[in-house]
Amino acid sequence: MAGGSGTRLWPLSRELYPKQFLALTGSNSLLQNTLERLKGLATAKPLIICNEAHRFLVAEQLRQKAALDRNILLEPRARNTAPAVALAALQARLAGEDPLLLVLAADHVVLDVQAFHTAVDKAIPYAQAGDLVTFGVVARTPETGYGYIRRGAALGEGAFRVDKFVEKPQRAQAEEYIKSGAFDWNSGMFLFKASRFLEELAAHRPDILTACEKAFAGVSHDLDFIRIDAEAFGACPEDSIDYAVMEKTQRAVVVPMDVGWSDIGAFAAVWETLPKDENGNVLRGDVLCHDSHNNLLFSENAMVAAVGVDDLIVIQTKDAVLVSARERAQEVKQIVNQLKQAG
Ligand code: GDD
Ligand code: MG
Repeated sequence: MAGGSGTRLWPLSRELYPKQFLALTGSNSLLQNTLERLKGLATAKPLIICNEAHRFLVAEQLRQKAALDRNILLEPRARNTAPAVALAALQARLAGEDPLLLVLAADHVVLDVQAFHTAVDKAIPYAQAGDLVTFGVVARTPETGYGYIRRGAALGEGAFRVDKFVEKPQRAQAEEYIKSGAFDWNSGMFLFKASRFLEELAAHRPDILTACEKAFAGVSHDLDFIRIDAEAFGACPEDSIDYAVMEKTQRAVVVPMDVGWSDIGAFAAVWETLPKDENGNVLRGDVLCHDSHNNLLFSENAMVAAVGVDDLIVIQTKDAVLVSARERAQEVKQIVNQLKQAG
């Protein structure tokens, strides 16, 4: 799933250049890393589902990784992840197969790929048996941007029935969940049979399924791209897989994993995730530091120097510079809103 439009990493991410296409952690973009994470798993050709507006960006990023086949399904409009996964399942069904779908977000960081593969292997038998498997991560803080999963009965080594799935709870609720110690965060990655996902969608959101089937009836291929009927997909209701299916299904299983996962939703998480120098600074590009600590300094095409400052985020790009307190980097979205209002 590479169709998000995250703007909390402005000025690095833009509407036409969202987070999944950025090389935040090294020379690969997050999308490229996501694809490379599959190496060593017995997966078929990956299917990338993205917005039509990003098609050349995606094709180019895949071309750079020449080993990867291109298989890109274009959404004429963003309708969130439930329709996106429905399209993937329909595409699989079109081929007359009922494969397991490993659903991944294109904008996550996973530091321990081996451990991630182990978690996927653990999940396979449950998915084969018809369960919808989600991968859980240790919930540390009462973030309200995540799904929360309460573990139920243990099913075997490292897998549990999902007792309760709550997508993006209110703050007070999230605080209770953290206090109870009984909840994992939903990592936003899933494994299930294509047919089982479609059955669950038929049960809980038949409107979404019907709209996606209509859109898919008009499927066509050109070059690297798989296109669907724009008008029919435009009529599809928006919803995420978490609300549409995972909160409602009776057959969810969670496989908790410890893989150095982060969804790097904001610059504070970029700083947390990346390796630091002896003063706790994360430095990228042409940057110099003197007596400065725990900063993230990122320069695209100019020299950036810091003297005697701590806990700052400084992002220089060719047409914008962000300076923010590290603790408050979430509030970059206020700036993005102001920019939108200004047109
Ligand atoms: N193709 C497509 N179309 N992809 C999309 C669309 C869409 O309309 N909307 C979002 N995506 C992609 C994003 O690019 C990202 O890779 C993934 O789907 C998840 O979407 P987000 O919008 O980032 O979801 P979220 O972060 O709010 O919540 C999800 O992830 C959390 C963990 O990071 C949920 O699954 C939460 O439960 C989970 O905790
Ligand atoms: Mg996300």
